[in-house]
Amino acid sequence: MFKSLFRVKPVEPAGHVDAGEPFEGSLEGEATLKRTLTGTQLILLGIGAVIGAGIFVLTGQAAAQHAGPAIMLSFVLAGIACAFAGLCYAEFAAMLPVSGSAYSYSYATLGEAVAWFIGWCLVLEYLFAASTVAVGWSGYLNAFLSNWDLALPTALASAPYTIENGALVHTGGLVNLPAVLIIAAVTTIGYFGITQSAFVNSFVVAIKVTVIVLFIALGAKYVDPANWHPFIPANEGPGKFGFEGVIRASAIVFFAYIGFDAVSTAAGEAKNPQRDMPIGILGSLIICTILYIVVCAVLTGMMPFRLLDTPEPVSTALNNYPSLGWLQTLVEIAAIAGLSSVILVMLMAQPRIFYTMSKDGLMPKLFGKVHPKYHTPYVGTLIVGVIAAGLAGLLPLSLLGEMVSMGTLLAFATVSAGVLILRYTRPELPRPFRVPAAILVCPLGVVTCLYLFWQPFKEHWHLLLGWIAIGLLIYAVYGYRHSKLRNA
Ligand code: ALA
Repeated sequence: MFKSLFRVKPVEPAGHVDAGEPFEGSLEGEATLKRTLTGTQLILLGIGAVIGAGIFVLTGQAAAQHAGPAIMLSFVLAGIACAFAGLCYAEFAAMLPVSGSAYSYSYATLGEAVAWFIGWCLVLEYLFAASTVAVGWSGYLNAFLSNWDLALPTALASAPYTIENGALVHTGGLVNLPAVLIIAAVTTIGYFGITQSAFVNSFVVAIKVTVIVLFIALGAKYVDPANWHPFIPANEGPGKFGFEGVIRASAIVFFAYIGFDAVSTAAGEAKNPQRDMPIGILGSLIICTILYIVVCAVLTGMMPFRLLDTPEPVSTALNNYPSLGWLQTLVEIAAIAGLSSVILVMLMAQPRIFYTMSKDGLMPKLFGKVHPKYHTPYVGTLIVGVIAAGLAGLLPLSLLGEMVSMGTLLAFATVSAGVLILRYTRPELPRPFRVPAAILVCPLGVVTCLYLFWQPFKEHWHLLLGWIAIGLLIYAVYGYRHSKLRNA
């Protein structure tokens, strides 16, 4: 039994595939995913998933409470951890262009039990992230509507539950209705097709990147360099400023980078995955890292960092300058649109991972069903949408966000380890993209990701362990018995 838990799924080099050519599931004669995405669309998909609540919501609190102007350094540190992991994702995604991302990579290197475990962590990364960002979206929408006294009552726009000191507490709210509705709308788009989803995504990315660039260009004129001194404020207690605060802030703003790896889940739908996967993953990561660091420089230069402690820091910074009032409204619109595209990509990624797990027999067959007309994993899309809407309607942003970061960092660490392992176990496999200096980069990826993981885990270990226990139970009851590899 022990042996079968760690059996790896043999990796076969992927042959070259052309646009429109069915790739996955084609042997069984059913409908398959369609290869339509180009390199540019993949970069846009990455940016669509990455720029969201991290920069628009979390940056202000992280700067005001933990890092001060050195929030720029926190972004650099989190970006370095993501760069190590991103290189490893690029090597895997070009070599194994399937929809399962870290799940498939672990299956090929570390065996079925680890693959299941990572697949389960990815649910935290994608499904929970969609819910987290939907809650942030609801906050921005309500703030925007309040400009015209149209905001929903708090009971209909906030979570009824939160966790305090390890116990579930009722907050007095009923349901976060806007969060539920945005998930329903995005699920509908995901149901109808990857091309439509990519089109909507490209449009939204154009809006949010344009507004961010405008903020940088116009805000820069109002920067007072005195606001950057001291760059790292003196430590004021555990996790509050000093270098320790910078690290704490890195763990928080790590959320802002989550999503570049979602590009790898579209590998089954990329026209030329061998070439375009590294371009999509690394291209979106580089563009977002640069934008983030410059936005932070402008934000902390425009006003004293302690005043940025709001859920809409970019808008707060502009509020000080009446001549930029029009830009403030644009920023709010861009945030609302931008957060929607994050939800869209996350909700596209999750059913595609379940799709791959179902093809391996580890998830029920209905997750592998592809719509005969739209070529999307439609049943999985609907199930994921319903669960994500439930979480978004019931739980608060901070709790969901910590779960997302923990799951993602575990997946990143595993992928980094997996690249090195496969270099030794299958050195002969063709690798269209190779991590440079893998002997250094892969272990550094593992260590930096686990270090960042440790920060939220110290506080929320019971939630994560509970989640893992549920996953193991499902594996024992369903996945282990139905595994195609085990029964082959
Ligand atoms: N990186 C995504 C965001 O910041 C998840 O919203």
